[in-house]
Amino acid sequence: MAREFTIPGQIISGPDALNQASDALCRLGEKALIITDQVMVDLGNCSKVEKILKSRGVGYSVYAGVSGEPTDQMVRTGLMQYQAESCDFLIALGGGSPIDSMKAIGILSDREVKLSEYMGKNIDIRMPPMAAVPTTAGTGSEATRFTIITDTENDVKMLLKGNCLIPSLAIIDPQFTATAPPHVTAATGLDAFCHAVEAYTSRMAQPMSDTFALSAVKKIFRYLPAAFHDRSNAGAREQMSTAALEAGIAFNNSSVTLIHGMSRPVGALFHVAHGLSNAILMTVCLEYALPGAYERFADLGRAVGAAGEGDSDKEAAWKFLDAIAALTKELGIPRLEDLDISRNEFMSCVDKMARDAMESGSPQNTRREVSKEEIKKLYYMLW
Ligand SMILES: [Fe+2]
Repeated sequence: MAREFTIPGQIISGPDALNQASDALCRLGEKALIITDQVMVDLGNCSKVEKILKSRGVGYSVYAGVSGEPTDQMVRTGLMQYQAESCDFLIALGGGSPIDSMKAIGILSDREVKLSEYMGKNIDIRMPPMAAVPTTAGTGSEATRFTIITDTENDVKMLLKGNCLIPSLAIIDPQFTATAPPHVTAATGLDAFCHAVEAYTSRMAQPMSDTFALSAVKKIFRYLPAAFHDRSNAGAREQMSTAALEAGIAFNNSSVTLIHGMSRPVGALFHVAHGLSNAILMTVCLEYALPGAYERFADLGRAVGAAGEGDSDKEAAWKFLDAIAALTKELGIPRLEDLDISRNEFMSCVDKMARDAMESGSPQNTRREVSKEEIKKLYYMLW
């Protein structure tokens, strides 16, 4: 069966990418809505984008109201500003939240609908031009046809998808990740790691997504600890920015699986940051997935040097998991019980979380049969 492979219209990546992207950025329209968060404004990162637009006579308005995981309310507020300011294109500067918010604002920009109406459908509409400037090495949203927005009425993370959500321009400039504190570097880096591992071990994998996934897994294993321990290590940060982009391209053209499927409900109900909830779920989920895809996990184990050619696929797969456990330990990833979450409250939500996970469709891409009952057991195992 033939497969489609999609990437952003234009990618400019590497040191000084933002300045080198000025022509491409200013070509997108006459007035931009810059979607970001207050931290980016305070750090002076937003003013770097503003400076470029100003120097070319392109108008803009800054919406810095995205804080934490994006919600339908944040999107609504940004949309009102986009319309009131008569903007005609969008720029997102930040982690996954501003980029995901940008896509949702684009969806609603000239139509009176609720985002929830698009859940489960393939979105195929005309969108304003969008530029994504990620400031973390993790989400990969700059390269994907997905956006995740919390429906605050129903406490559900809505997964919305369609090729029209892939940004027209992705600017990957590692200067921005230098401002991320170590725990953010760890969580976002492991989010990218999950994207690559899930893409490679998904039923939806294809040869082109494998290429990007393998490359990302190797880079993250090698450079995430260095970027975590020393944020002044520009070389490691540059490699991590590239890896996050590769991992985004990989899962955009394959899929995520069990980890992301189970992670979204935890984020929606207990407001655990996305990368962190993935990292917490990773070991339990991959141990479950392993028997369905020993040879795929073995490839990864050998690629990162955790296993050798002398190991059987089963041995190599388990060695990969051991290496992941060591990596999460080195990065200081907490357990669920270390977070400020009530055990009783968590347990009372397990049924809803398992249902929401299954409804997202992601767990079913795992190369081992997954049922709602199995997912409930995995949630219980976290405590
Ligand atoms: Fe993710």
